[in-house]
Amino acid sequence: MDKTTFSPAATIKGPMHSSLRHDSAHKHVTGAAEYIDDIPEPAGLLHGALGLSDRAHAELISVDLSEVAAQPGVICVLTAKDVPSVNDISSGGWHDEPLMAETKVEFHGQVIFAVIAETRDIARRAARKAKIEYRDLPHWSDIDGALAANAPCVIEPMVLHRGAPETEMDKAPRRLQGTFRVGGQEHFYLESHIALAIPGEDDEVSIWCSTQHPSEVQHIVGHVMGIPSNAITVNVRRMGGGFGGKETQGNQFAALATIAAKKLNRAVKFRPDRDEDMTATGKRHDFRVDYDLGFDDEGRIHAVEATFAARCGFSADLSGPVTDRALFHADSSYFYPHVRFASKPLKTHTVSNTAFRGFGGPQGLIAGERFIEDIAYAVGKDPLEIRKLNFYGQPGSGRTLTPYHQEVADNIIARVVAELEESTDYQARRKAIIAYNKTSPVLRKGIALTPVKFGISFTMTAFNQAGALVHVYNDGSIHLNHGGTEMGQGLYTKVAQVVADAFKVDIDRVKITATTTGKVPNTSATAASSGTDLNGMAAWDACRQIKARLVTFVAETWKVAETEVEFLPNRIRIGAEEVPFNEVIRKAYFARIQLSAAGFYKTPKIHWDRKAGRGHPFYYFAYGASCSEVTIDTLTGEYLVDRTDILHDVGRSLNPDIDKGQIEGAFVQGMGWLTTEELWWDGKGRLRTHAPSTYKIPLASDRPKVFNVRLAEWSENAEPTIGRSKAVGEPPFMLGISVFEALSMAVASVADYRICPRLDAPATPERVLMAVERLKAL
Ligand code: MTE
Ligand code: MOS
Repeated sequence: MDKTTFSPAATIKGPMHSSLRHDSAHKHVTGAAEYIDDIPEPAGLLHGALGLSDRAHAELISVDLSEVAAQPGVICVLTAKDVPSVNDISSGGWHDEPLMAETKVEFHGQVIFAVIAETRDIARRAARKAKIEYRDLPHWSDIDGALAANAPCVIEPMVLHRGAPETEMDKAPRRLQGTFRVGGQEHFYLESHIALAIPGEDDEVSIWCSTQHPSEVQHIVGHVMGIPSNAITVNVRRMGGGFGGKETQGNQFAALATIAAKKLNRAVKFRPDRDEDMTATGKRHDFRVDYDLGFDDEGRIHAVEATFAARCGFSADLSGPVTDRALFHADSSYFYPHVRFASKPLKTHTVSNTAFRGFGGPQGLIAGERFIEDIAYAVGKDPLEIRKLNFYGQPGSGRTLTPYHQEVADNIIARVVAELEESTDYQARRKAIIAYNKTSPVLRKGIALTPVKFGISFTMTAFNQAGALVHVYNDGSIHLNHGGTEMGQGLYTKVAQVVADAFKVDIDRVKITATTTGKVPNTSATAASSGTDLNGMAAWDACRQIKARLVTFVAETWKVAETEVEFLPNRIRIGAEEVPFNEVIRKAYFARIQLSAAGFYKTPKIHWDRKAGRGHPFYYFAYGASCSEVTIDTLTGEYLVDRTDILHDVGRSLNPDIDKGQIEGAFVQGMGWLTTEELWWDGKGRLRTHAPSTYKIPLASDRPKVFNVRLAEWSENAEPTIGRSKAVGEPPFMLGISVFEALSMAVASVADYRICPRLDAPATPERVLMAVERLKAL
């Protein structure tokens, strides 16, 4: 059977398309779910703590750790000299990220040494006894500083180009330029980073690590230790949230724990506290977007040029794919006849920024929405009207080509937006809000309806592969393993649904087991929202193999045609007979039929040539739209989100309740990014917002007072994905943009909507107030 053209169960309402609860939901709320710090500790366990740099950029003149080592209960102190093989944890192999600094430090919070002690408390206290002499070097912490210093890029910039913006820009009837700044974001997973290394015999080691990418931890630990991957087993049952912050950032804790564990031949655990986690690990990239727009009096875009400068931190990490994805999404849902986008992944003396839900896509997409907003105010129209005017068209319209030369072939954005506009009564509410604002001197309201189109696939083609391992035991119970990791998103549940659906058995017959490099090798990070697409298909492939063997066996034994064998709920129809699943399995075992299989999947159709800026990087697009209404206080800048309505496309949902949970959570996280979450570094390059006391994530009380989330139930993936579903992890994050734009409209009311407020993100109350004051002063 050709699995790429095969759409399993697209029409069956089985375990695959039903709202089964998250397998761990009850354990999450009762505390029974085991996280790594809950694993019973091995005898003789030691604890590690980090010794961090106190400077943004400096030479290390001397590092005196004698007092650290002398503390009672300290077992040893590790520095770069203790790294057995290569002192490098750069995920892309660029050798730009030492595990521990050797001769210089490049950001405040960089690891210089590690302390291993009897208790975590002793290790942490001892780490403060270091005497380090620095010689300061010039540093820059932000994008403007990097541009002023003519800072290098951490990776080759990317350019997307289509048409002739150079000449068409000048021919456009109207023109405007602007700069938009959008902030970064702390992941704030509830479970901070953690790694536990247990030494084995010879070169072996078992690692439990809160990571989205066990194969990379395995690879990096091998690189640092100088041992082959086959000696290292990395396990993770679940993370207490990852959000991209555990794609590469877990490497350093796993590597340090392993070095200590092998050196001392004792189990070692590293668990930074919240402040250390926030200081020493990377975040979402903030961007500065400089743009130039050519358009006409109606508001139709003719040409766009923009550069996307990003704060990458001291090393490349994932800044290449992140800044690339920003460019891939700066078209939002709009056709640009002539376009040129360039990235500037700037080196800064700050922690190396990394993946975060959407992978730069949100920063690009919101820039695209800023272009629309700016044009709307320039031509004096509702931004929604300008959006609709510029949407990608249907195939054949001549308005389907993206800046990266991929056709948008599955475009449903116009329908999604039209349905939401209708169901929210957008037009009448906008009129009422404009009338309200005329009569309300202090409180002002705003409303905005914004679209999302998000490309699904890793832009690095090789990562779009997955494996799974399925065993059917001779008692009829099923063991499922795959390369994806569970971080709360419900991946394990969805893949178990696929397996239950394949064998047509009850879901509780399928045991979901911890992700481990020992069962499925060479996996990709669970990222780019593709966990279910990839691992679901790999698991389906494993089931298909076992089922094929069962069908052959049954047909031969019962002497019926293979077409006379059918999987029914918990039983198998064989000709006129129906036999319980367990009984068939037992018979198959005694007949020596192999009841285990490794499945594999690779995404078809995709390719990408980064140098040429051309290709087909995305298998398909996921769509959505949200409409938010807000009220601001023009005297204080404070605001409330009164109502949000969302219509989101997940194709044929594998699990509608889990998908809605993803959409609600992603929206709130996106809203937090654009409203209250502000990262702030001081003049010395120190992150001063390194705890919930100074970094404000949304509270339950910040959610929209009215919050309606619907799935576009009519949608079905045009591509034969698992059950015709679509990825859901990241796309709804960008639905939060409607809150940001509604705030902008409320601010604009102060100058009677004549001027685009050009709010920068995050639109903290402070920034809203300053924007109001600016408009009042005009
Ligand atoms: N949902 C929860 N509860 N926790 C998380 O850490 N991470 C998000 C998203 N949803 C996350 C989450 C991110 S960044 C991604 S890429 C996807 O889940 C990854 O999982 P998936 O590919 O299985 O959707
Ligand atoms: Mo998600 S940022 O791709 O882990």
